[in-house]
Amino acid sequence: MSKQTRKTIIAGNWKMNKTRKAAQELAEAIVAACAKHNDLPEIVVCPPFTALPEVLAAVKGSAVSTGAQNMDYHPSGAFTGEIAPPMLTDLAVKYVIIGHSERRQFFGETNASVNLKLKAALEHKLVPIVCVGETLDERESDLTDNVICHQVAAALADVAIESVDPIVFAYEPVWAIGTGKTCEATEANRVCHLIRSTIDGYYQSSQKGAPAAEMVGNLIPVLYGGSVKASNVDEILSKEDVDGALVGGASLTVEDFLPLILSAQKRKQGSLSKGAV
Ligand code: 13P
Repeated sequence: MSKQTRKTIIAGNWKMNKTRKAAQELAEAIVAACAKHNDLPEIVVCPPFTALPEVLAAVKGSAVSTGAQNMDYHPSGAFTGEIAPPMLTDLAVKYVIIGHSERRQFFGETNASVNLKLKAALEHKLVPIVCVGETLDERESDLTDNVICHQVAAALADVAIESVDPIVFAYEPVWAIGTGKTCEATEANRVCHLIRSTIDGYYQSSQKGAPAAEMVGNLIPVLYGGSVKASNVDEILSKEDVDGALVGGASLTVEDFLPLILSAQKRKQGSLSKGAV
């Protein structure tokens, strides 16, 4: 697979929004809007757990896939309040977001638990969208690259190179989430590129003495997330290393989300001008 064939993905993270009825209505509206277009990118919606069955039913047979926003890594057991990977596969959920900064910030998610969840997702044939990103303090202390490299390498610990293929990464600078402050497109592109080179570096160094690993970083979709909206999406998705977007606020209505889907469609078709690193 070459980088030209990397999937373009537009994913909506609905976070803690929408009752079942509201989620169903939004999913139906997105499906209806998408039905008017061909050659769409991969479209993913991630409703709260409670609305997954309604959303799965609404998107069935359409171009829209469904993801969960989190999961535990144990297959079952005494973990009150948690959701296990087989419960998601039982519903036919395709994607799962892992390590979102809100999980890291408010719910004790660590690089170690992200790694366990990533391995559990792969084992259960769920497509993991692994989120990494620096806080404002880290950026201002010039620690962005250290933080990103560390989060990426820690997420991949003990993941065999043969298993990397389905993984999706998302660069979500914490300071750009829900703040209206978008990371400058060139900088988003630079960090997405850094994620790829970190993946390559990780597998080259872990292959110790073996022939250089294939450049797997080039095969993996890397998304940008943080205040993506209709007014900035074209510029962000025009960048070489940004394969799509993980969207919060602007995924909550079809009016806001459709322009992002159509921008990703243009990227997929090669009609957004590409800016290199
Ligand atoms: P916003 O698009 O609301 O900034 O949220 C981004 C995000 O956290 C997606 O996971």
